[in-house]
Amino acid sequence: MSSKLKIAVVLSTTRPGRFADTPTNWILNLASQRSDAEFEVVDLRDYPMPFFEDKLPLIYAPTASEVARKFATKMASFDGYIFVTAEYNHSITGVLKNALDHLFTELRRKPAAFVGYGGVGGARAVEHLRHILAEQHVATLKPAVHIGMIEMIGIMREGKKITDFPHLDQAAHQMLDDIVWWGDALARGRQATAKAELA
Ligand SMILES: Cc1cc2nc3c(=O)[nH]c(=O)nc-3n(C[C@H](O)[C@H](O)[C@H](O)COP(=O)(O)O)c2cc1C
Repeated sequence: MSSKLKIAVVLSTTRPGRFADTPTNWILNLASQRSDAEFEVVDLRDYPMPFFEDKLPLIYAPTASEVARKFATKMASFDGYIFVTAEYNHSITGVLKNALDHLFTELRRKPAAFVGYGGVGGARAVEHLRHILAEQHVATLKPAVHIGMIEMIGIMREGKKITDFPHLDQAAHQMLDDIVWWGDALARGRQATAKAELA
């Protein structure tokens, strides 16, 4: 690989007072200590797109929404994704689903990993997200971080920090190792295919 791998850390919630910033800042801090990839936050607050309302499916034309096109261009610039996902009603948030509905080929043949949070570590949301991303040709990775109720209550009500839960750091390092491995492997694969298509 000639240039450094670029991995997005995507937030899934936008409400004021969201918990999302806590796990995002933590994972970004751990990730930034690595020298084998660059990590950048993609905050859906910066892309206030409408609910999907294009007349034509994206297979025929890009979305008419300028902000959604900006989001799609941003997402296309990465080699992999870490979704920091909340669980709303046993699934992902509406705002994340809507943002993903505005993507078509941008995530194709790239890996995604997860930091879930919620009563059961956001596990149901993460599993739903795997199904959604399969449709977009994304390779979803097994190692994930699940921040559960005990940790969330500790952080929100008892003044604890994520770093007070060493098992989360351990899970995060495993997940980061894996997203970098897959990110690199799939970037090479995409490059090889692009070269073969040009030849
Ligand atoms: C609309 C809504 C639905 C929720 N549903 C669930 C749920 O099904 N499972 C769960 O574990 N937590 C659920 N929660 C609690 C969230 O896990 C918790 O509020 C979390 O902080 C949400 O992420 P955010 O603060 O980044 O918005 C729900 C919260 C909201 C606002």
